[in-house]
Amino acid sequence: MDKFLSSQLGAARSEVKKYIRAGRVRLGETVSPSPETRLDPAADAVYFDGERIRYQAFVYLMLNKPGGVVSATRDRQKTVLDLVPPELYREGLFPAGRLDKDTTGLMILTDDGAFAHRILSPSRHIEKAYEVTVTREVTPAERDALLSGVRLGDELLKAAALTRLDRTEPVYEIVLTQGRYHQIRRMFGSQKNPVSALRRTRMGGLVLDAALGPGECRSLTPEEVRAVEERAV
Ligand code: URA
Repeated sequence: MDKFLSSQLGAARSEVKKYIRAGRVRLGETVSPSPETRLDPAADAVYFDGERIRYQAFVYLMLNKPGGVVSATRDRQKTVLDLVPPELYREGLFPAGRLDKDTTGLMILTDDGAFAHRILSPSRHIEKAYEVTVTREVTPAERDALLSGVRLGDELLKAAALTRLDRTEPVYEIVLTQGRYHQIRRMFGSQKNPVSALRRTRMGGLVLDAALGPGECRSLTPEEVRAVEERAV
């Protein structure tokens, strides 16, 4: 019981024991069950503050990454994990894919290594869409270069799609299926059209929730987790 609640609530087992003593935990009709009770997590009905805790093997969170935060798990600077509220935090959580310190927007945090590997694997061609603000309008020649691939050293950096968005500033949606270091900044840099702002808006079929403010995060629904792997080219 205490192990189950600790993993599902993201709380230490000593904390969980306090919750049980305080009468906040119920197993079926039994209030304050023994922390040692053996559970069948899939079948037993466990409640915390009156709410049913359903067993989830893995955690999947959507974060609206603000600028100025690094996508590492541990760093001297502030990391994306520092933004996760305690009730959503779980040991082993890491960002599935990195964004530069100054890039904002959609980020998935999970403790499911196989899922992260699948969605980041270049061979799966899962789309990642970004809103990119550049210095000036993209010329037809530049557009062709970005879509057919820019050669930088031994890498060929390619965009899967590039669409002008309806803004007064030169803002485009760029879709990638690769995920190379500073890819978008380097691609536009090679065209002498530096990026001034970059925000990820979609991963596969999962779109950044417009209700999520910068620095906020929430759990993904099972449908949303599936949607990530749905859209590929
Ligand atoms: N491309 C970049 O240059 N930076 C990111 O953070 C993501 C894609």
